[in-house]
Amino acid sequence: MIDGATWPDLLLEPRGPVTVLKVNRPDRLNALSRDTLGQIGRAVRVFTDDPAQGALVVTGAGETSFVAGADIAELVALGPAEAEEYSCAGQAVMDLIERSAKPVIAAINGYALGGGCELALACHIRIAAENAVLGLPEVGLGAIPGYGGTQRLPRNIGLGRAIEMVVTGRRVRADEALALGLVSHVVPQAALLAEAEALALAILRNGPLAVAAALEAMRDGMHLPIGAGLRIESERFGRLAASQDMREGLRAFVEKRPADFQGR
Ligand code: COA
Repeated sequence: MIDGATWPDLLLEPRGPVTVLKVNRPDRLNALSRDTLGQIGRAVRVFTDDPAQGALVVTGAGETSFVAGADIAELVALGPAEAEEYSCAGQAVMDLIERSAKPVIAAINGYALGGGCELALACHIRIAAENAVLGLPEVGLGAIPGYGGTQRLPRNIGLGRAIEMVVTGRRVRADEALALGLVSHVVPQAALLAEAEALALAILRNGPLAVAAALEAMRDGMHLPIGAGLRIESERFGRLAASQDMREGLRAFVEKRPADFQGR
């Protein structure tokens, strides 16, 4: 059941088949406490389990911050074992997002620093408002990214560029993030959510089983030698051929009509 009591730090806004999840801790620039992360994990599980929800847009409440990182106040007191556990718990939530069979889009509406940048990196697609500022500044705090940033940033923008960003802790603005391939589009702040929603709806016009299989093949194949990745692709391609949706999609093209996908 989606209500404010379940996730006090989040705003969940259903918009037809698209759900908009806003991180909402205005006095902390939407920084992620351990509890906030747990709330995100629960909300993502509800999203993935609910057949009525087709796509998720993750953003920050307000107009200045997506998520300004992990909550630094919580990090101060962590010992080594707790810090490792803190990192693993955050990574588990990021993995949940990345492993979603339904598309998850980050709409970056301001600061996406540290854990905020890592949250965006766990999403399948990132679009940014013109005022977005992204970075992994942890080394400046004597720490390193702990929610997947050292792994997902190089996989997204290449090792050399990622190393430069991580070891300098340098922040990049939206236009540079676009040039780096860290985000796919930059749009005016006022248009950000509408753009994210339009992108989600464009994806949802396609066969949902095919979208899920494509996400899975790219995600899993990315970490493998190309031969093993190609095997994954062929196996998923074969599996889809057993679906009504693939038959419907191909037939609809031949019959010059829109496909009516049922997710079967
Ligand atoms: N954790 C906890 N609190 C945070 C936070 C974070 N990651 N980021 C911002 N806040 C808090 C600030 O402490 C401040 O609280 P206060 O009003 O009680 O002093 C409030 O949010 C507003 O932040 P402030 O720094 O005053 O805003 P700003 O506009 O001057 O600067 C940032 C914005 C994002 C550049 C700056 O807040 C910042 O550098 N944040 C930390 C980013 C970071 O290092 N993230 C990685 C953490 S591992």
